[in-house]
Amino acid sequence: MPVLSWDSKTTPQPVSASLQLDAKVFPQGSGYPHEAPENQLILGDNLAVMSALLPDYEEKIELIYADPPFFTNRRYPARVGRDEDSRKPEQWQLADGYPDHWENIEAYLNMLYPRLQLMHRLLAPQGTLYLHLDWHADHYARLLLDEIFSPDRLLNEIIWVYHGPSPIRTAFNRKHDTILVYTKSKEYTFNVDAVREPYNPSTVKTFSSSPKAGFGKVPDLERGKVPEDWWYFPVVARLHSERTGYPTQKPEALLERIILASSNPGDLVADFFCGSGTTSLVAAKLERRFIAADLSWRAIHTARTRHVIGSPVPFNLLVESGLTIQRSSAQPEDVHQKENLLTIDPHLQPELDYWELDPDWDEKVFCSAMQAVRPKKKGTIAGELNLPQPTKGKKIALRLVKIDGEQIQYSRTG
Ligand SMILES: C[S@@+](CC[C@H](N)C(=O)[O-])C[C@H]1O[C@@H](n2cnc3c(N)ncnc32)[C@H](O)[C@@H]1O
Repeated sequence: MPVLSWDSKTTPQPVSASLQLDAKVFPQGSGYPHEAPENQLILGDNLAVMSALLPDYEEKIELIYADPPFFTNRRYPARVGRDEDSRKPEQWQLADGYPDHWENIEAYLNMLYPRLQLMHRLLAPQGTLYLHLDWHADHYARLLLDEIFSPDRLLNEIIWVYHGPSPIRTAFNRKHDTILVYTKSKEYTFNVDAVREPYNPSTVKTFSSSPKAGFGKVPDLERGKVPEDWWYFPVVARLHSERTGYPTQKPEALLERIILASSNPGDLVADFFCGSGTTSLVAAKLERRFIAADLSWRAIHTARTRHVIGSPVPFNLLVESGLTIQRSSAQPEDVHQKENLLTIDPHLQPELDYWELDPDWDEKVFCSAMQAVRPKKKGTIAGELNLPQPTKGKKIALRLVKIDGEQIQYSRTG
């Protein structure tokens, strides 16, 4: 079988790594304090993250969606602050998103190859990997996946087509991505009825007037058809309601089709290049469990905020050991408590992106029982949160995140 080789290719080995629990997050108090979150959002390099997960999760993940950097040799900034209206630049600013910058193709392959190997090990026997790339590197990746999974395990090459502006004048506009789908074994989950779609109205009309149009095969027009291997979904453009400001965010509809087809409720769905958290959010909405990881703090913060607004499912926030989230201490006069109401000083509100509250801080693991998030369009972030329980004599803690990413922690005895 032909395999891809390059000078610095080596047999990948898992690295030695561990994860630390930074917080348990109960979106809007849901499940607090008794539920033990089953879902994981992890800050870290996914080589270390997947290696650390191996002892507990080898062959345990039913679906992995991977949307890594595409080898574009660009840097993608995030837009933070309110809105992204180009006519109102005072309302947002640019921040670090993620780099897709490589010395050469070898460096890129040295990143991708060991990670695909780990994903293969983590996949359950009936599991499926969807690897999302485009023309820059999909041809190399397909050879790598043939080597790791075997060419027989290629289930589909999905083409995702979309529209959008393009500066290109010397070639056709490049408006599709490629999603390579490999299954771990011959027995795999594929819920065909969950992803059927209506037949084209012209097909319905043809068969209604002439049932013989299909040479004896009459489609079940009511049930709908199995989608082709090319999909049209609009991209998440600037003013799209799903838009988070995190670069190269994928549409929820795309992930919905993938998750419905290749997993069942209760299954574990993972995305180790999770960016803004599209996969984990859709997985939670569809009652799957999730693991999502990214090495960019901005990505993890965006995903966490998105979950807090969009899904009541609790999750753990973990950090690769060795990475620390820097937090400064708040001034005591910035926080006020009156019975069950906790208030932050109004001067903080315009600068804040997110703040959360642990009403029973054990000085070890932060349990985020309530959260306030800056509204996307109009209005300011809530300046007060209700304590869900009496806190007399207990320690309470607050964590605040400013728009520029600065983090602040505060604790006091209630
Ligand atoms: C194409 S974006 C993913 C976008 C995501 N699908 C979404 O809908 O928002 C790729 C992501 O991979 C992350 N990434 C790149 N290298 C990584 C690594 N070694 N470990 C973890 N994450 C990584 C980047 O920080 C970036 O957020």
